[in-house]
Amino acid sequence: MQQISHDVIILGTGLAGLRAAVEISIRTRGTADIGMVSKVQIMRSHSVCAEGGTGAVMRPEEGDSFELHAWDTVKGSDFLADQDVVDRFVHQSPDEIRLLEHWGCPWSRREDGRIMQRPFGGHSFPRACMAADKTGFFEMQALYDTLVKHNNFKRYDECFATALLVEGGRFAGLTLYDLPTGEFYVLRGKTLLIASGGLGNLYGFTTYSQTVTGDGQAIAYRAGLPLEDPEFLQFHPTGLVPSGILITEGCRGEGGYLRNNKGQRFMEKIAPKMMELAPRDIISRAEMTELLEGRGFPGPDGLDFLHLDLTHLGAERINKRLPLIREVCLKFVGIDPITQPIPIRPVAHYSMGGIEADIDGRTQVENIWAAGEVACHSMHGANRLGCNSTAECLVWGGITGGEIAKYLGQALKLTDMPEAQAREEEKRVFDGLLQRNGDENPAHIRRELRALMDKHAGVYRTGQSMQQGLDKIAELKRRFRCISIQDKSRIYNSNLMQALETENMLELAEVLLFAGLARQESRGAHARTDCPSRDDDKFLRHSMVYSSGGTPRLEYKPVTITNWKPVERKY
Ligand code: FUM
Repeated sequence: MQQISHDVIILGTGLAGLRAAVEISIRTRGTADIGMVSKVQIMRSHSVCAEGGTGAVMRPEEGDSFELHAWDTVKGSDFLADQDVVDRFVHQSPDEIRLLEHWGCPWSRREDGRIMQRPFGGHSFPRACMAADKTGFFEMQALYDTLVKHNNFKRYDECFATALLVEGGRFAGLTLYDLPTGEFYVLRGKTLLIASGGLGNLYGFTTYSQTVTGDGQAIAYRAGLPLEDPEFLQFHPTGLVPSGILITEGCRGEGGYLRNNKGQRFMEKIAPKMMELAPRDIISRAEMTELLEGRGFPGPDGLDFLHLDLTHLGAERINKRLPLIREVCLKFVGIDPITQPIPIRPVAHYSMGGIEADIDGRTQVENIWAAGEVACHSMHGANRLGCNSTAECLVWGGITGGEIAKYLGQALKLTDMPEAQAREEEKRVFDGLLQRNGDENPAHIRRELRALMDKHAGVYRTGQSMQQGLDKIAELKRRFRCISIQDKSRIYNSNLMQALETENMLELAEVLLFAGLARQESRGAHARTDCPSRDDDKFLRHSMVYSSGGTPRLEYKPVTITNWKPVERKY
């Protein structure tokens, strides 16, 4: 089997992957040779969809502080964030904003010419640096333009990583299905950075692009790395009905209201101080309560909705600060937010959990790092604050890039290749999966899985509903063994890639529910109506799920608390 080698392999080319590549290039003066792998084209990475902003303390002289940003983040996390990690994050994110400024990111500006920052949920100071409502797109553009100047990387676009090969406790290679050529080969590297993003397509109603299927988490899990805190899946309060497209929190940062079918701003009852700018877990629960108690509007396919009302903001503000939102509403639901309220409901948006990584982004395998949403640095705990995600991608892209550059300085050799394992993997994909001739359609299994997760692992959960979800997943896994992939060719076989994705999704859905069932409390995004209180005595700890012969095994690890003991969250 063909083998191609680089110094560093970066799996995933969104914000974290690009930022790391830039850092490695700078630190090694362009001498490190990087292989950049993406199952899509670089600028189609889901990071381009980030809208509202990137959080950083930019105005200490106006009243913001690192301590305040850290406190907001820890309180927002329902005290499950590791406080040393949060502290590092808040100190480094302003530098990332300034770096992007130098690299050409067109930040929106205040009248006085300084970078504009708008309010975001759970933050007690306006902290979201923004490029209108297309922040991710412009950040990606600035990073890619910067990377191109170094000219030290090779792109593997539209290449799907099917397995992570670990030999003697070290990264040895990735097996890749190269869709345009139909080839299957091994990409080897002295180090690997996994930066392949989230897993939101486990859900039917989601803000994520169709491509976000958790492949990085799944291959790491199968290779023996633990997934940390997978039960904490964030629901964003404003998904456009019926598509699920993200309607940025920036709308509420600009002053938008949430209303029920009586025209009431229902957040008054729940978070009288912060109202629509309370953290996402709290707003999503309040919305679901309104909907379940019949104060929503009837929507298609059971997607009842509430209103996000921007009509009092005026055309000028909407056109200037929220142009994408207006365009999306006009094109997708024929509604002009200047004059009409937007139909919204909670939507699967972000995974707080991921591949366990330490404060430097290093995983349990010595030469594998993880950054961005795929990773869990224990930074967001049970609930992430808005605008802390793009910031985290940039901060840990930079940190892991720096760590990898240092590691490369030790003149390491490639790890020996487990050739038999690579050949087995090729057989598994092309002689096994592709040749199955059962009567199950993998697309149907995927659709059923996503509906199941909407139903059994939504904003509100119970032990019973999660157990039912697990039972159904076991059944879907059984049926998946009897699939048939109609297209039997090797070249650009998107049916095959989707089947591989679905296999990954089945595994990750099981992990999420498994950890959720064991966590018998409510904390952050994990809201159990059968265990409605937070239980710090038993569950102030991180879940760690390992694959044990294909079935999940649970361990726990402690939360790092430096400054703040858990208290009741009030907003
Ligand atoms: O609402 C938003 O623009 C999303 C931001 C985020 O998830 O951080």
